[in-house]
Amino acid sequence: MTDYPPTDREAFKQFEHDGFSRVAQRYDRAIAQVTSQVNETILDAVKTGYGTQLLDVACGTGWLSAAAVRRQAIVTGLDFVENMVFIARSRCPEAEFYTGDAENLPFESGRFEAIVCNLGILHFPDPEKAIAESWRVLKQGGRYAFTCWTPPTRNPFMKLVLGSVQTHGSINVDLPPGPPLFRFGDPAECETALRIGGFTSVSVTELPILWTFPTPEDVILTVVSSTARLGPMLAKQSEEQRKNIENAIIEGAKKYATDSGIEIPASVVLAVGSKA
Ligand SMILES: C[S@@+](CC[C@H](N)C(=O)[O-])C[C@H]1O[C@@H](n2cnc3c(N)ncnc32)[C@H](O)[C@@H]1O
Repeated sequence: MTDYPPTDREAFKQFEHDGFSRVAQRYDRAIAQVTSQVNETILDAVKTGYGTQLLDVACGTGWLSAAAVRRQAIVTGLDFVENMVFIARSRCPEAEFYTGDAENLPFESGRFEAIVCNLGILHFPDPEKAIAESWRVLKQGGRYAFTCWTPPTRNPFMKLVLGSVQTHGSINVDLPPGPPLFRFGDPAECETALRIGGFTSVSVTELPILWTFPTPEDVILTVVSSTARLGPMLAKQSEEQRKNIENAIIEGAKKYATDSGIEIPASVVLAVGSKA
């Protein structure tokens, strides 16, 4: 359960909203291509095909929606950041996009046959509410899938970035507190949350993702300029801490050098359930 007070939840939601509004364009250029690596697997998991009525929750700049449109699904996307929705509309004019909250979906009950949410759930202050809303707007027999980053212990990219912050600075800086970032990187948490939310035939798997950068310095640039939470966390360190963190990330990234640049492995958990 999410166990922090509603006032903190509102502050966190506003912080996430401001962050993603600020980085939308850079997110589209630097990060969406990374998160999109699991798009086809997610769409397979909810059996997306010709004519599927699909909702993409926290759609960001619309890459997953566009992949569903390529399968000839009938796609609706929703994100609470207007700048994200603006880019999604231009990427994918065939889909219908709404600005709205995953925890309070503006759709009638039972409208969709498939609902997907790629790397959105870790940004919701009340993920149980978001899961309940997806259950409500899903048709009987429909399928729901979400993903979440795995924790640093199983995720070299997160280990490099957060480990460097932890070693040379502080993770606990003065930012609105949110739910645990990697809660749903734990398969048992995904399974419990989906079952409590009413889903059956629950399955949880882990999928690889690769972060690629032209140079080690680009790791810093991407983290600082294209993320809603990691960038502000770095900005809150002292000058000296920030320099040490950046050096540690650059030196660590060099270990992942290949002929094509820097390639750092990561992974996500994919959780899927059905509405019986
Ligand atoms: C990491 S991005 C993922 C975007 C996209 N699904 C992808 O895979 O690239 C998280 C997205 O969640 C959106 N988001 C965060 N909280 C939200 C909420 N409560 N309701 C709707 N969207 C939300 C953000 O605006 C952002 O676009």
